Amino acid sequence: MNKTKIWLSSPHMGGTERDFVNEAFDTNWVAPLGPNVNNFEVDIQEYLKEDVHVAALSSGTAALHLGLILLGVTAGDEVICQSMTFSASANPIVYQGATPVFVDSEEDTWNICPIHLETAIKDRIAKGKKPKAIVAVHLYGMPFKVDEITAISKKYDIPILEDSAESFGSEYKGRKCGTFGAISILSFNGNKIITTSGGGALISKDKEIRDKAIFLATQARDDAPHYQHSHIGYNYRLSNISAGIGRGQMQVLQEHVGYRQDMNAFYKKIFKDIKGATVFVEPSSDYVSNHWLSCVVINSNEASFTTEELRLALLEENIESRPLWKPMHMQPVFKESPFYGTHVAQSLFENGLCLPSGSNLTNEDRVRLTNVIQKFL
Ligand SMILES: Cc1ncc(COP(=O)(O)O)c(C=O)c1O
Repeated sequence: MNKTKIWLSSPHMGGTERDFVNEAFDTNWVAPLGPNVNNFEVDIQEYLKEDVHVAALSSGTAALHLGLILLGVTAGDEVICQSMTFSASANPIVYQGATPVFVDSEEDTWNICPIHLETAIKDRIAKGKKPKAIVAVHLYGMPFKVDEITAISKKYDIPILEDSAESFGSEYKGRKCGTFGAISILSFNGNKIITTSGGGALISKDKEIRDKAIFLATQARDDAPHYQHSHIGYNYRLSNISAGIGRGQMQVLQEHVGYRQDMNAFYKKIFKDIKGATVFVEPSSDYVSNHWLSCVVINSNEASFTTEELRLALLEENIESRPLWKPMHMQPVFKESPFYGTHVAQSLFENGLCLPSGSNLTNEDRVRLTNVIQKFL
């Protein structure tokens, strides 16, 4: 039997990436600046279909770090962060010497719960410290409850840092994710819906914020013929080579979204009649997920198997799957941080599994997946 590895999500080149990279070599723009960087930013801006300004950076984590700096987060501050996410959403809060305050998920989108968010804000204010920002994440490509979270952000005048690392191509009420925050970020890591091998972007409607992000990302050099610095800078700009890959990838982004949505439909069909198994889907027509990763939750009271048994059965056939993100409030490194919520994120972690979702999965891969899962079930 064919046992080549089936990955959760692997890079998928469209074909034209090399042309942009070759052009960078041919013109000797082998630097963290050049036409690919500028054009990649324009491509992203045009795709998002809003009056936004984009800074291409070396990673999504770098974008989150600069986002916090630009929102004025400094040592001793508190920043609210969705607990159920990848650690990169929270780590930059600590880079700034601030404390993350974690908030549980709600069950519809698995993202930050508006009720617990408001409780957290009120309680932190009562304790004497108003949070400086809200890091909200569109997990696995599913938009968070944008209207509700935005209303709370406005009510308390606390800006949203929108972590769209996993949701490039997703939409809420017809608008693209990556346009909802005071500052938003994207990731082009190797496992994302499009990749530059490693990279990210910071997005803002305010051009001044975008310009400041580029200033900080290029070592904060003041305008002078010599090296003059009045701010601490970072080396966070995307290289012109990586941006060349990004330019090619932008040509296939929408196609990738379609393939991943097809993978979600594929899993819905496979698990349709399986007692206790629920594939993660949009809660209403307001939401369009890019289904970066398709996930299934197993209710162990109803199903005849556990998530771990399914994971091991897939592994046996050289198929990668992975438990959902372990919430940050359960991570040893954040054990001192406050948490507001109940057990929604914890229960998702304990009962959910991410399934192979790449846009490059073949029909043969799907047949293998079907056979393995059906045999197991
Ligand atoms: C939700 C989330 N935030 C942030 C990041 C960080 O992005 P990067 O790997 O580009 O630094 C990732 C993925 O890696 C992510 O999944």
